[in-house]
Amino acid sequence: MGSYNIAVLPGDGIGPEVADEGLKVLEAVSARFGHEFNYTKDLVGGCAIDLHGTALRPETVSMCKGQDAIYFGSVGGPKWDDPSAEVRPEQAILGLREELGLFANIRPVKMFSFLSESTTLKSDVVKQVDMIILRELTGGAYYGKPKKRWSTSRGRYAVDSMKYSEREIERIVRVGFQIASGRKKVLHSADKANVLESSRLWREIANEVADDFPDVELIHILADACAMHLIRRPTDFDVIVTENLFGDMLSDEASMLAGSMGMLPSASLGKRRSDGTGLGMYEPIHGTAPDIAGEGVANPVAMILSGAMLLRHSLGLDREADVIEDAVREVLEAGHRPADVAVAGEPFVGTSDLGTLIADAVA
Ligand code: IPM
Ligand code: MG
Repeated sequence: MGSYNIAVLPGDGIGPEVADEGLKVLEAVSARFGHEFNYTKDLVGGCAIDLHGTALRPETVSMCKGQDAIYFGSVGGPKWDDPSAEVRPEQAILGLREELGLFANIRPVKMFSFLSESTTLKSDVVKQVDMIILRELTGGAYYGKPKKRWSTSRGRYAVDSMKYSEREIERIVRVGFQIASGRKKVLHSADKANVLESSRLWREIANEVADDFPDVELIHILADACAMHLIRRPTDFDVIVTENLFGDMLSDEASMLAGSMGMLPSASLGKRRSDGTGLGMYEPIHGTAPDIAGEGVANPVAMILSGAMLLRHSLGLDREADVIEDAVREVLEAGHRPADVAVAGEPFVGTSDLGTLIADAVA
């Protein structure tokens, strides 16, 4: 029995709806195991822009720094979509990653076998998919300087810098080896070493770190080829480590191997304590889905599974995390399907009802 502090940042669009279901399930865990979860809620993203004029207030960052974990919904929406605006909802997520040093983004892609018919890909190809995309999250073109725009007599220019230090590469690749050594002992590292200097350094350092993990096979793969092979032979991959921008793209692509983005959780982790726990931010990989926001039809599974990752990676509550994952499987297997993975023509279960079914299965 323990007492834990969790920041809850539901955000915009369907974020608040799915966050409610995630909390419902965490409360079921609390009741069953006797833990106390203390939640501190705050606004981030578009709703914070509306109220405070900024997507992420410094107070929010300090509050998050003092918590055991951050449970995040999603941010953004058409109302704040102007990419040239000074304040944008995405600044909340980018700011939190940077300020909290959350450099390791774990995106598991696992097909629930009973959902393999509902993908747009051939069921046989994706049936056994079970992989982890490990994305570097606080470096590369997202944060590298210079990052700016300027004008000259010959026209407008813009630059983003894909910059990586040895230390940044070493620590993320090491996490990749650690995860791989607890799984199938094969680590793919995706880069563009045929073109980019930062990728050549990446490859060099990956080879050096490999010496510390003699039982893990390291396979370098070009990121473009990786994108192709993910669709062609997805079950050949177990753990893929890659830099920020490639990871952003490859993880969206890979999410389709699991039927729907609505199913996939993620964890963004910073420095770990010796027992493996530490601060982290947990969020569904889907966005705010403004087209269905407020209708009660969003799939809460990704948010609920993000809650399981929170228990496991920040609080060290492995058994409790297993209970949530088992509950999700049990409920879906029994035929209760959210709209995005429902069998065509069959009725689907709404957001709140699905959350309740999963919470009841936890209890
Ligand atoms: C993601 C998202 C973010 C990113 C956006 C919202 C800034 O696409 O988490 O994958 O590009 O990292
Ligand atoms: Mg993305």
